[in-house]
Amino acid sequence: MSTAQICPSILAADFLKLQEQVQAAERGGALRFQVDVMDGVFVPNISFGMPLVAAMRRATNTLLEAHLMIVQPDRYLEEFARAGADLIIVHQEAAAYGLDRSIQHIKQLGKKAGVALCPATPVHVLDEIVEDLDLVLVMTVNPGFGGQKFIGYTLRKIRQMREMLDARNPQCEIEIDGGVDQQTIRAAYEAGARVFVAGTSVFGYAGGPEAGVQSLIEAAQGM
Ligand code: DX5
Repeated sequence: MSTAQICPSILAADFLKLQEQVQAAERGGALRFQVDVMDGVFVPNISFGMPLVAAMRRATNTLLEAHLMIVQPDRYLEEFARAGADLIIVHQEAAAYGLDRSIQHIKQLGKKAGVALCPATPVHVLDEIVEDLDLVLVMTVNPGFGGQKFIGYTLRKIRQMREMLDARNPQCEIEIDGGVDQQTIRAAYEAGARVFVAGTSVFGYAGGPEAGVQSLIEAAQGM
């Protein structure tokens, strides 16, 4: 079974020590990071935007994801690409001009394309487009805040997503986001997830980000 990839979400980081924390997470084994972009409309919270993607681009050479929890994401795809995102994730629920248009636009910008699904959105909404995706992000909380509780019914959805991708696009990654910690990660790994966005359990980990990432990798593998 392939190794779990931990994708620290900077929403939970200490912005006064961001580069230091990113480097610590990398030492722990983080191979990618996520910038959780929130507009206060699609989700009931406002976080940050392109400037922080640009700052993260300077802080790490690893794969950089921009998770756009915003309405009408098409308006900003070029700016997030220019800021340095390698992989841009739009929400199926927010792709106002049509999800296919957003995915093709991201690819025309030379970036990997991901789609995020809120917990109650069924996987079959991806039926027509699943072959075009580089990543599917199955939200395991309702997006908007860090530190929430993992929603248990999403495990069934992860298994459904795994089955769909095994049959139609085995190269596409399954990522999950929200409430991922040393207790919840193993069940999600067994359900088929391989990329784990984690904020609180990395940057809020008592032993620091390096140990937080290491402990999540071990927990995912059942060690
Ligand atoms: C969406 C946010 C959070 C964050 C991770 O709500 O994007 O999911 O990344 O939150 P934790 O790991 O603290 O639950």
